[in-house]
Amino acid sequence: MPQNSVGMPDVKLTVTVNGASYTREVEPRLLLIHFLRDDLRLTGSHWGCDTSNCGACVVWLDELPVKSCTVLAAMADGHRVLTVEGLEKKGGLDPVQRGFEQCHGLQCGFCTPGMMLTARWLLDRNPDPSPAEIREALSGQICRCTGYENIVRSVLWASKHPAAGQAAADDEGTDQAADGVPA
Ligand code: FES
Ligand code: FES
Repeated sequence: MPQNSVGMPDVKLTVTVNGASYTREVEPRLLLIHFLRDDLRLTGSHWGCDTSNCGACVVWLDELPVKSCTVLAAMADGHRVLTVEGLEKKGGLDPVQRGFEQCHGLQCGFCTPGMMLTARWLLDRNPDPSPAEIREALSGQICRCTGYENIVRSVLWASKHPAAGQAAADDEGTDQAADGVPA
């Protein structure tokens, strides 16, 4: 087995990412975020603080959002990973992606992939969350731009448009509902 720069044998892993299987030999110390970004070139997941604080690196490991800067790539062996690149299905955006588009849920966008993956996880378990429940679900993730208000509105929009997809992109989201979420 090949040796790496620190003289440790590489480890072989097979992981399913966004439905595609990948087998690679990687350094045992390699973090999942770097495996995704540097080995697989899936750069939608962002590397921010590297200290488990910001949540920019959130992806799903099987059915759970995880901060991928706290997970070794080798720990994903035999598991499924979902990144923001996998949210889109059959050419249609996920309703969460549509919500961020409709409600201006991002500014610089650095936090957005992680926010959307956690939002998807929340809506799969709680299709009609309150603003407080959305804020609690996203509480481990930091946004330095938006003040969070439009992120919450984006997730509320997605909860009210569970069938929203690409085809509906042109004809929704202009009217304001009483709660401030575009109708
Ligand atoms: Fe992982 Fe900030 S880069 S939590
Ligand atoms: Fe810039 Fe959230 S949109 S950090």
